[in-house]
Parts: sequence; structure tokens; C-alpha cells
Amino acid sequence: MGIVISPSILNADYLNLGGEVARISNADYVHVDVMDNHFVPALSMGAPTVEALVTKGTLPVDAHLMIEAADHWAPVFADLGCYSVSFHAEATAAPVRLAREVHKLGSRASLALRPATDIAPYIDLLPEFDMIMIMTVEPGYGGQKFLDVMLPKIERTREAIRRTGLDVWIQVDGGVSQETIERAAAAGANNFVAGLAVYRAEDAAAEIDTLRALALASYHG
Ligand code: DX5
Ligand code: ZN
Repeated sequence: MGIVISPSILNADYLNLGGEVARISNADYVHVDVMDNHFVPALSMGAPTVEALVTKGTLPVDAHLMIEAADHWAPVFADLGCYSVSFHAEATAAPVRLAREVHKLGSRASLALRPATDIAPYIDLLPEFDMIMIMTVEPGYGGQKFLDVMLPKIERTREAIRRTGLDVWIQVDGGVSQETIERAAAAGANNFVAGLAVYRAEDAAAEIDTLRALALASYHG
């Protein structure tokens, strides 16, 4: 498993989304935050925007569903052609059934955990998922401070994945920057969402290269 960089367009220029995706052409995926004003206070983009990014964008879409009705919407976003669909453990009634539905529709299935949600109840379910997403801020907004208190959860999750022998990725989302990415990678994350760090940079592509190099140097399998 390699290092994956997935910039979030939450704070990009919405009038020029095509150009904003072109700025990050050396990224692995574009991370799209879908918010419903129930699971989190904010509203962001929905299915039509995501569909345009899938069909007309130049990078595979990594969808992050911060929505209460995960059981309804995760299959819809998989069916739209998202490469990966992250739904929240706190929002789904049946994570295994949902992961299987998402797989059947051809997408990778990822389980997202809010900071207060432990990985322990999900350890036996790891073989059902392609990725565990560990939120390193409270979901809802870009530009928040990385929560160092999440590092032990990343370590426990990596340990549990190692025991399965499976290639399950760990994504961290929130506050990832040049200042924090090494700690997250050293703890066992291999997939990094970065919003403001990338979009605030004058040269977004150079920022991605730097983040990738820092992660690569700190990640130890
Ligand atoms: C927060 C979102 C993140 C956010 C990351 O709820 O899920 O994807 O856009 O942005 P930064 O990197 O600015 O914290
Ligand atoms: Zn996100």
C-alpha cells in the first residue's frame, strides 16, 4: 500500500471547480465533502456536483458523506461512479450491509469515525472495508486544528489491520498539513486528506509533492 494524497475541495473556488481540480493533477484523488445540515451543521455540495466531478473531472472522486441518511445515500454516490465512498459509523444502521452494497456498485467502501467514536467495536468488521477514515477534527468545517489526541486511535487501528493481514487503508481527515502529516503517518495513516493546506498554497501541486514526501519518510508499513 502506498501513500495517498486526497485534497479536499471544501474550501476551493466553487465557480471554477474544474480549474481547482486541474491545480491538483498530481494528487491521487479529489476528496469531496458532502454535508447535510443534520449530521453536521453545514450544507455543502450534493449529488449533481459530485456527478459533474466524476464525469467531467480529471481525478477519481473520494466522497466523504457527512450525512445522517447514510444508508440511503452511500449507494447513490457509489452508483454515480465515486471511486471511494466514506460513510460514518455513527450514521449507518448496518455498516456491513452498506459496505456490501457499495462494493456491489463498484466503489471502495470506507468507514468514517468521528473523534469520539472508538475503533474497538469495528475491529472484527475490518475485512468488510477497504479503508477506515479517522477524523482528526470534529467533522463540519475545513481549517480546524489537527487533534493530536487521535494519534493513539490511528496506532490501534493500524495494529488491528496488521493482525488481519489485509490491505486496509487508514485515511486521516482534518488539519493535515506539513506540520502534522508526519505524526499521522508515523502512527500508521497512509491516506491523507488536506483542504486548506493545499488550496491555500500558491502552488498546490508543489504542496502535494511536499506532503507526499513527508508522509513517505514517516510511514512504516
Ligand atoms: C471536515 C472535512 C474535511 C475538511 C478538511 O469536516 O471532512 O475534509 O475539508 O479540511 P482541512 O484540511 O482544511 O482541515
Ligand atoms: Zn472530509
